Amino acid sequence: MFPKKLHSKLEERKANNALRQLEAPRNLVDFSSNDYLGFSKSETIFNNTHQYLIDYNIIHNGATGSRLLSGNHPLFNTVETQLSDYHNSESALVFNSGYDANVGFFSCVPQRGDVILYDEYIHASIRDGIRLSNAKAYKFKHNDLDDIEQQILRYFDSAQHGLSQNDSNNIYIVTESIFSMDGDSPNLKGITQLCKKNNALLIVDEAHAVGVFGEGGAGLIQHLKLEKDIFARIVTFGKAIGAHGAAIIGSESLKQYLVNFSRSFIYTTALPPHTLANIHAAYHELATSITKAQLHNNIAHFKSEVVKNELQNRFIESHSAIHCCIIPGNDMVKSIAQKFQEHGFNIKPILSPTVPKNQERLRFCLHAFNSKEDISKVLKLLATFVTKSY
Ligand SMILES: Cc1ncc(COP(=O)(O)O)c(C=O)c1O
Repeated sequence: MFPKKLHSKLEERKANNALRQLEAPRNLVDFSSNDYLGFSKSETIFNNTHQYLIDYNIIHNGATGSRLLSGNHPLFNTVETQLSDYHNSESALVFNSGYDANVGFFSCVPQRGDVILYDEYIHASIRDGIRLSNAKAYKFKHNDLDDIEQQILRYFDSAQHGLSQNDSNNIYIVTESIFSMDGDSPNLKGITQLCKKNNALLIVDEAHAVGVFGEGGAGLIQHLKLEKDIFARIVTFGKAIGAHGAAIIGSESLKQYLVNFSRSFIYTTALPPHTLANIHAAYHELATSITKAQLHNNIAHFKSEVVKNELQNRFIESHSAIHCCIIPGNDMVKSIAQKFQEHGFNIKPILSPTVPKNQERLRFCLHAFNSKEDISKVLKLLATFVTKSY
């Protein structure tokens, strides 16, 4: 028996043309993966990973347990030291994924009496962590500094919560340096100043900025030299790093706290050593790779072709590897994505409810390995599809 309530939820998804389905990968030109630098298929990284395991005689298939039990292979220490050096911070703590890192952080760091202010477009993993937290949480308007300030003032004013700057209660503010479904960025310098002024603690998810911005692809926070002003950064390895896993970058005390209280860190089998060797090799490659410059070349070409095809009003402003063209309605955006597939290009439709209704979009992910010809072709096609369709 399949429960009626679940059945009707699936039926509703079908009626909204929003049913998710797993598809086998097809051999299409990649304008949809998060593999911005092509690292997931880098032979150099693959060979260096393998060689590292051989050189250090690391013959392990699995981690065998939680890091607090049997799974804390010495490579964790090597990688975490590499990460804290690379990201110019006191410490780094590896999690099994970005999802785990965000759930693990937000469920245990903000305490009862604290408040979390989060961007309305924040990633689902942060929302899920917040749902598990005992702190109160309020969303602020996307990338809107004035609204953050309003919310902080409202909270200070609220006698009900009894929060003052001298209190032991804290305000946590959370945003992404590059928004995953929009490709845009907040005014990070402005938010940092706001946090300083109000003694708030800032957390920035850098999932889509690592490998793309900053010297050696260290991220947007380091590019802006803000690392000393951030309470915690989340970096992930499944995107530009081309591997798997994530880390929380912050102080030594934060690391110690997470090791003791973060349930998605404690109650799970650790990453296997070969994933750690992969992360190690990928960061080593990132330090000297020219692929970041190739990616930015392609971003510049994409943006100029958007203007050439008079599509700029349909796109969300972005300097990142993610560019979104708003095409309202699940039916319309799905049918245009389908047309792209028929022309050999993999461009994903982002449907409601993942994004708000009428904000459905085509999400173009750019890569170092995309050819200029393909980028030009894709935008020419887009111009014909959208003018024909609406
Ligand atoms: C902003 C952001 N944070 C966290 C995650 C989760 O990272 P992971 O894929 O490593 O679980 C993602 C990826 O979907 C993301 O886009």
